[in-house]
Amino acid sequence: MNSSRTGLRRAALVVLSAALVATAAGTAQAHPGKAGPAKGHHDDKGHHHGKGHPKPAASLRDLADRRHVLIGTAVDTTALAEDSAYRATTAREFSSVTAENVMKWEVVEPERGRYDFSAADELVRFARAHGQQVRGHTLLWHNQLPAWLTEGVADGSIDAKELRKILREHITAEVTHFKGRIYQWDVVNEVFEEDGSLRDSIWLQQLGPSYIADAFRWAHKADPKAKLFMNDYNVEGVNAKSTAYYELAKKLRAQGVPVQGMGVQAHLDIQYGFPTDLAANLARFDRLGLQTAITEADVRMFTPSDPAKLARQASDYRGLLAACLATKGCASFTVWGFTDKYSWVPGTFEGEGEANILDADFRHKPAYAALREELAKRH
Ligand code: G3I
Repeated sequence: MNSSRTGLRRAALVVLSAALVATAAGTAQAHPGKAGPAKGHHDDKGHHHGKGHPKPAASLRDLADRRHVLIGTAVDTTALAEDSAYRATTAREFSSVTAENVMKWEVVEPERGRYDFSAADELVRFARAHGQQVRGHTLLWHNQLPAWLTEGVADGSIDAKELRKILREHITAEVTHFKGRIYQWDVVNEVFEEDGSLRDSIWLQQLGPSYIADAFRWAHKADPKAKLFMNDYNVEGVNAKSTAYYELAKKLRAQGVPVQGMGVQAHLDIQYGFPTDLAANLARFDRLGLQTAITEADVRMFTPSDPAKLARQASDYRGLLAACLATKGCASFTVWGFTDKYSWVPGTFEGEGEANILDADFRHKPAYAALREELAKRH
């Protein structure tokens, strides 16, 4: 029933061959750091050569490809343009990329009807050059909306009828622009409150709950092949919020609305317990016939880190990946950035950070090793 992983197998093979071409062309190198004792040396592809270590070190994407899962990262496109180590690591380690910001509404439609896809197009070009797939993020959210839209709704110059038209035009324009180049779209992002009621956003206030089905239908019409996702945080375990998504997905699918995936963001914090029922939660969406994905994984802590905190962080990353690998329809595992050099966390959670798998100097942290080990396991 759920053929997403099988379907991805073919795509993954295409990605791998393209990656090999890209690597052979010398586009993916600049070793980002290493885990373990410093013996031998790494060549410019990150492959380790030295006494007793003849085996080249496989990248995350090499290992993920063997497991028929895509390993992704959110990409800060400014860093991608300006930081060569960031660029090389993005190319070397990942088979999927997500725009951290540049596919969001305020960036792509800064004025009504005037679209600017330039930054996102750059990322799509980069992905194509490096044999990577692209996750689309995001078509409808309550954050990072342009001022013309929020102010228009607030001052009454945009009424409900007009807002619905604006939403339809935005979704149609963006999905059409990227048609055929996005494998999963986060169509609606963060539409539920923690208690499982629909979020009190301008969308709900103005349009009522039907905006969700509309968004999926419009996106599907514009690109029938892209897999269309709901996406949220705090939905790792089985709880009121994830159950609301489950019930909504069930209802929409019964109505023939093209909802095809559930995205679990997975912004974790080591001060809280690991959501041990993640695999059980993913499995229930699997049984509904939906793809699942870990879409924004990171694991923050109060800084500075110490070995115990980093070990706990590694264990959390490992647990997230293991749950995805154990779920047939979990088609991609994406980290929300890979280096502590660029992260949204310190700007949002005071005193916290170091949430990523490489440190600010691109050195591998225990979490990186944990992901590699988990991907390398025989299954
Ligand atoms: O682009 C402007 C720039 O022109 C300006 O000079 C600068 C000054 O602050 O701000 C820049 O915008 C920032 C933008 O990131 C791009 O860097 C915003 O202030 C900043 O708030 C914004 O943060 C993003 C955040 O979403 C917004 O809510 C983070 O980078 C991004 O990682 C984060 O991603 C979200 C996902 O989309 C959804 N799930 C949660 C996740 C983490 O919050």
